[in-house]
Amino acid sequence: MRQVSSEFSELISQRKALFGRYFVNHIYPLIQKNTHKRLASAMLYSLEAGGKKFRPILTISSFLANGNESEPSKDALLLGAACELIHTYSLIHDDLPSMDNDDLRRGIPTCHVKFGESTAILAGDGLNALGFYLASRVLPREDDMSLLPDIFEILHNGAGILGMVGGQSEDLELDGRFGPPPESATQNPQETLTRIHSRKTGALINSALLLGNRLRRDNKSREDVILSYGNKLGLLFQLTDDILDVEGIQSDIGKTPGKDADKGKLTYVTLYGMEDSKRQVITLIEELESLAESIESPNEIFFKTLPSYLGSRKN
Ligand code: IPE
Ligand code: IPE
Ligand code: MG
Ligand code: MG
Ligand code: MG
Repeated sequence: MRQVSSEFSELISQRKALFGRYFVNHIYPLIQKNTHKRLASAMLYSLEAGGKKFRPILTISSFLANGNESEPSKDALLLGAACELIHTYSLIHDDLPSMDNDDLRRGIPTCHVKFGESTAILAGDGLNALGFYLASRVLPREDDMSLLPDIFEILHNGAGILGMVGGQSEDLELDGRFGPPPESATQNPQETLTRIHSRKTGALINSALLLGNRLRRDNKSREDVILSYGNKLGLLFQLTDDILDVEGIQSDIGKTPGKDADKGKLTYVTLYGMEDSKRQVITLIEELESLAESIESPNEIFFKTLPSYLGSRKN
């Protein structure tokens, strides 16, 4: 396992800050302009609450790794923003009383606690639609006619019925709210857990990586390894989220800990136990570090260090 160097911490904060400036200067105004005031306030409330901006950082990083560009293009920032809007919508809806019923997110009261359930639903809907609108603003290329359809397909794979929305649906079914879980899930809980986590969380993480890659001229030759890396990274991300729900501190995670056990969620920790979950973290980190060798050049560090950074994250 690699050490998380100060060089890596600096790189990730630089990319976060670069994206943050773009987001505030170019995307917030789209929400402010002519939008019904209460709706705009609710959307901006959840965006301004912060968050790690992990998905746009991935888009920027897959666009840049082992390439000729030293800065992300406008289109890479636009697609990173699309992922962040869709991700934030997924959090607003995930927290609703009819879903996970959480009242703390990103360190402040959840959107529905602050604005009411109906406005929170609409704020999520608005962010989702705006995410797809941003993707439509990517510059078409005459020599690459499938660029825009591919971008929409990648985004839909992450956000839609085979991605986040599909995973969330199955996640809810398994906490028993609709009655006993389906037999297939109880017979094969490990496969079920992997599918749910890959869809509810992994799919959009994969989209973020694949979108950055799709903007490159050499995208085809890199797609397979990016996809393999993304699949494992998504699992690592949700696995550490499950661990943090048990071991995390409220002021670090900005959410109420202990909610998964309360709600009877199927998680890595409930299925495998804490010790085995942590062993799986180490295995995933090692596999990811090895895949990263094919994504970036020997002197680049982002994708090689990211796994141990995520494995040791506190929020
Ligand atoms: C939380 O996502 C929800 C999951 C998919 C596990 P993040 O941990 O990326 O949340 P923010 O964006 O930093 O708030
Ligand atoms: C939700 O997973 C993933 C989403 C699609 C939002 P969780 O329900 O575990 O996310 P948190 O812990 O509330 O952030
Ligand atoms: Mg949930
Ligand atoms: Mg939740
Ligand atoms: Mg969680």
